[in-house]
Amino acid sequence: MDIDEFRKHGHQLIDWMADYMDTVEKLPVRSQVKPGEISNRLKEKPPTNGEPMENIIDEFKTTILPGITHWQHPRFFAYFPANSSPPSVLAEMLTATLGAQCMLWQTSPAATEMETRMMQWLASMIDLPKKFSGVIQDSASSATLCALLTAREKATSWKTNELGFMTIAKKLIVYTSEEAHSSTEKGAKIAGFGRDNIRFIPTDNKFSMCTNTLRKEIQSDLDKGFVPTCVVASIGTTGVGAVDPIKKIATLCKEFDIFLHIDAAWAGAAMILPEHRSMADGIELADSIVINPHKWLLTNFDCSAHFVKDPTALTSTLSILPEYLKSKESEDIIDYRDWSIPLGRRFRALKLWFVIRYYGVGGLQKMIRKHIEFASQVEEWINDSKNFELVAPRSLSLLNFRLLSKQSGKVLDIDKLNLKLLNDLNDSGTTYFTQNRVRGHFAIRWSIGQTNTELRHVKDAWAQIQQTASSIA
Ligand SMILES: Cc1ncc(COP(=O)(O)O)c(C=O)c1O
Repeated sequence: MDIDEFRKHGHQLIDWMADYMDTVEKLPVRSQVKPGEISNRLKEKPPTNGEPMENIIDEFKTTILPGITHWQHPRFFAYFPANSSPPSVLAEMLTATLGAQCMLWQTSPAATEMETRMMQWLASMIDLPKKFSGVIQDSASSATLCALLTAREKATSWKTNELGFMTIAKKLIVYTSEEAHSSTEKGAKIAGFGRDNIRFIPTDNKFSMCTNTLRKEIQSDLDKGFVPTCVVASIGTTGVGAVDPIKKIATLCKEFDIFLHIDAAWAGAAMILPEHRSMADGIELADSIVINPHKWLLTNFDCSAHFVKDPTALTSTLSILPEYLKSKESEDIIDYRDWSIPLGRRFRALKLWFVIRYYGVGGLQKMIRKHIEFASQVEEWINDSKNFELVAPRSLSLLNFRLLSKQSGKVLDIDKLNLKLLNDLNDSGTTYFTQNRVRGHFAIRWSIGQTNTELRHVKDAWAQIQQTASSIA
């Protein structure tokens, strides 16, 4: 493609992108295609000769777009948001144009130095002490895996890396709450702890980890000769947004010399609000923390902020230095290849820089406050309604609710009814929610956080819920 052609299609695509952002609200939120529908429309064989760009773009619009679930739709209320923003999209275009692979300081000094500075900005935005260093990972799952690997190595004096797990005579144990995100279980499996050696600690009536049980489990493992190695605590669990008592957990970790990682992938963004910072009381006592700007800070997926108190522990766990990765600079620079699992690294800091500069901390705070306010409005509607109930306390901008059955009190009936309500809502294309199970009960999970969600979208969704419910209940 020559530069003139690139320029022509680039301008056309920017127009398309602007129109998409402007009109996405008119599209069905969740893709309405059936399994296999898109693959049936894609040619089975690659073309021998190149095709005109016009055809490719046309097919993108007609074939691909119907198979997209619109995460940037203002009535996207499923999962957690992956909210993007125009400045972030523009930065991603630059990142793609530069095409820099930023594994070493030398392979793009600006990427490395901006990554360090962005992590310092984020740390100051959430009031994290200066003793933390930061790295941008691709996902919270990767950050948690890195934390588990570091904990494993620390507990075995870096012997597992050298000699392998089979030489470690003692069982290494990971603790997390029964509400924790599945990435902890997955990370512990990948890091070789074994599922059997994860203790899923029960939660209290606020769905927060019971520290008394945690203490008992640690003691019981010690009595058996096992090695309590890592606690993964949560600030904002995925299901109900529960917050573990970080300070108490940190005190236990200190007492028993256990590595503490905090998964604040979603709710960590709300720590930029001084009025919500108390939920993270004690966070400065952690060994590592993850917060996802790609969830609720207007920064396109992927961008996960991983803070560590002792970067040497992380780099000693992950570093490997073949000849071809050596460079003449080694003093006073960071080679982030040693801080994450993949060698290759995208220039993720650029979009964060664009976003924070464009909106300012005040703009980001305003958006998060707005989402929390909307959720508290929904909470009021549900509490005032005779037909619905919350099945867990609202956490920030996350709610779990269900429709009450008029006929019988049987839980099974209510579960089926709510599954039907959820499917009807999602199939209608007007809204998109996720299902959840809270203490055994089926619930509809409503997460508010898309960039362009306004009160009218939330009101429309509530009206749609009530209307759909009345047609099935
Ligand atoms: C609390 C929590 N932790 C971790 C994750 C995993 O995030 P990622 O997709 O960045 O790995 C999620 C995903 O929603 C989450 O809700």
